[in-house]
Amino acid sequence: MGQRTFGVLIHGAGWVSTQHLAAFANNPATRVLAVSSRTLASARRRAQEAGLKPAASYDNFAEALRHPGVDIVAICTPQQVHCENVLAAARAGKHLVIEKPAGISLAELRRMRAAVRRAGVKTIVSFVLRWNPLFRKLKAMSAQGAFGRVYSVEADYLSHNGSWWSGWADTCTVKNGVSAMLVAGCHAIDALRWFAGDGEFAAANPAEVFALAGGYRKGRTTEFNPFRNAWVEGAPAMEYNGLEMALVKFDNGVLGKVSVNFDCIMPYRFPIRIFGDRGTVFDNRVWSHQFPQQQQWVELPDLQPDSSDVSHHPFQAEIDHFVECLQRGVESHCNLEDAILTHEVAFAALECYRTRRPVRLPRLKQSPRP
Ligand SMILES: NC(=O)c1ccc[n+]([C@@H]2O[C@H](COP(=O)([O-])OP(=O)(O)OC[C@H]3O[C@@H](n4cnc5c(N)ncnc54)[C@H](OP(=O)(O)O)[C@@H]3O)[C@@H](O)[C@H]2O)c1
Repeated sequence: MGQRTFGVLIHGAGWVSTQHLAAFANNPATRVLAVSSRTLASARRRAQEAGLKPAASYDNFAEALRHPGVDIVAICTPQQVHCENVLAAARAGKHLVIEKPAGISLAELRRMRAAVRRAGVKTIVSFVLRWNPLFRKLKAMSAQGAFGRVYSVEADYLSHNGSWWSGWADTCTVKNGVSAMLVAGCHAIDALRWFAGDGEFAAANPAEVFALAGGYRKGRTTEFNPFRNAWVEGAPAMEYNGLEMALVKFDNGVLGKVSVNFDCIMPYRFPIRIFGDRGTVFDNRVWSHQFPQQQQWVELPDLQPDSSDVSHHPFQAEIDHFVECLQRGVESHCNLEDAILTHEVAFAALECYRTRRPVRLPRLKQSPRP
């Protein structure tokens, strides 16, 4: 593929699109050519920020897909429209950056996977923390044996998600958001898979899940704003449980413990634990047989994943990785096929709440390629 330049269409001109736009603008091999959204006003505003002419803004996705020179579409719309967006863009032969969660049901994910396979396009799902500097350092250390054989991992998404987020009205309902684990806990599930996985660039395959849900916030219209340390009355009621806890057994034998907590009264945190037979990780603190003289935890200076602000997330590294995959003609370790396994845990948890039984996975992986 050499040094060719890839044209980009950003679809969905909201909060996260600011970061997709900046990352593609900074990558020397990509050019943002057009922006589309539900409303022309939003698309125009974002297009203007990118220095594009008004003619490069659309409120009709089918028309936007026909914009000359578009090779990559970044799907930055709310989760309930990702499936129809992905089906249309794959049919048009576009490579895809898909915001998380990729879809809101296993049936949707199955259709999306079939469309992507049929079109032969490349994908990346935005589990952006895989490119967080601390994640990268810990994963590399783990792959080099710093913690010995990893046997247990833990990750938690702790954030009082609410009206401070522009995407909240779309995601606080069961119809569109489905569950706290799907809306945002999926980042923690993906971290669990990532640190349970062998090697530097592979996530582990979940084989069995058992989960419980609780908390107190479901149905309440009072919420907490962690940025202003203030209470808000008359907020839209969150329709699902804010607290979900799941145990995951991976097919390599590693056990994982993951939770999402939208009920917590505190600023955002994303704790990580990795336990191996030669070392341990507590967030950015490491105990390792590779530091034989250590008397105290060794603190890594790398940027930790403790912010919900999209401008803090490593979108640049994610997009650079995807562009490199396109240039080399290879799949990302975080493509749709892989990311489906992360979503499977969130859907398995919902099944556990109904059946009160562990769920064996995968549900979708076995289906034959067309
Ligand atoms: N990877 C991450 O860390 C991360 C972080 C934040 C968000 N996200 C994900 O990114 C996605 C978007 O979130 P956000 O925070 O950017 O939400 P947002 O600020 O609400 O933006 C969504 C945008 O999509 C547009 N839109 C809504 N419905 C549409 C439709 N049917 N067709 C076309 N455009 C439509 C809206 O358009 P108008 O303005 O034109 O009305 C809005 O500009 C979600 O899936 C979210 O989970 C991921």
